[in-house]
Amino acid sequence: MSDPRRQQWSATAYDTHARFVSDLAGGVLEWLAPRAGERILDLGCGDGVLTEELKSQGAHVTGVDSSESFIEATKARGVDARLMDGQALTFTAEFDAVFSNAALHWMPDAAAVIDGVSRALKPGGRFVAEFGGHGNVAAIVTAMRAVGLSRGGDLALANPWYFPAPRAYQRLLEGHGFTVKRIALVPRPTALKTGMAEWLLLFRKPFFAQFGADAEAALAQAVDLLHPALCDADGNWTADYVRLRVEAFT
Ligand code: BEZ
Repeated sequence: MSDPRRQQWSATAYDTHARFVSDLAGGVLEWLAPRAGERILDLGCGDGVLTEELKSQGAHVTGVDSSESFIEATKARGVDARLMDGQALTFTAEFDAVFSNAALHWMPDAAAVIDGVSRALKPGGRFVAEFGGHGNVAAIVTAMRAVGLSRGGDLALANPWYFPAPRAYQRLLEGHGFTVKRIALVPRPTALKTGMAEWLLLFRKPFFAQFGADAEAALAQAVDLLHPALCDADGNWTADYVRLRVEAFT
């Protein structure tokens, strides 16, 4: 049986509740500026929407992800995709660029990720990524922590993510031999068309599942806590996203 504390992905649920993730990737794609004929690794490719986009621009793309559901969805788009933990990449000097959108915050061993990226790149290759930065989903995490505190839950399950500040991430990259060309925090309040409860269930089910028969009540409590901060008068929810965007060279 799978570990109930582990994040599980369904490409179908992701398509319904999180399509905004790839829809909002224009900025980081501009930083990548893929060129026809380049070999590009899409690290944490998710359901492959952006991997396919890179392929359509003429790049030779490989996607990797640790979710079987996502790898199946990516392959179904006709894109090369492999099941692989981004913290244990197995490529050596194969890629002109490593690209990553909205995935690195799921990989807490950032040093292992950067090691693998450095090894995967050809000399002079570039690493262009966007993921959650310091302060990302702060209100959402705080609400879950409040729910966890009131119910005696495991607070670690409220925030399993890696959201570094730019200076800390730059130091880590430089410590692995990268030269950082640009790095920035980009606040990006993000509309949640299908609502907050769906976001919480898609991205943090293990936190709520720990409360067993009270999981639904815990979810409703979190939504209630968040309502004044993140829901407008018309009932529209916004997530308090802050992205960290970076371009670095080996
Ligand atoms: C994000 O894309 O910032 C994110 C996604 C899921 C959970 C937390 C953050």
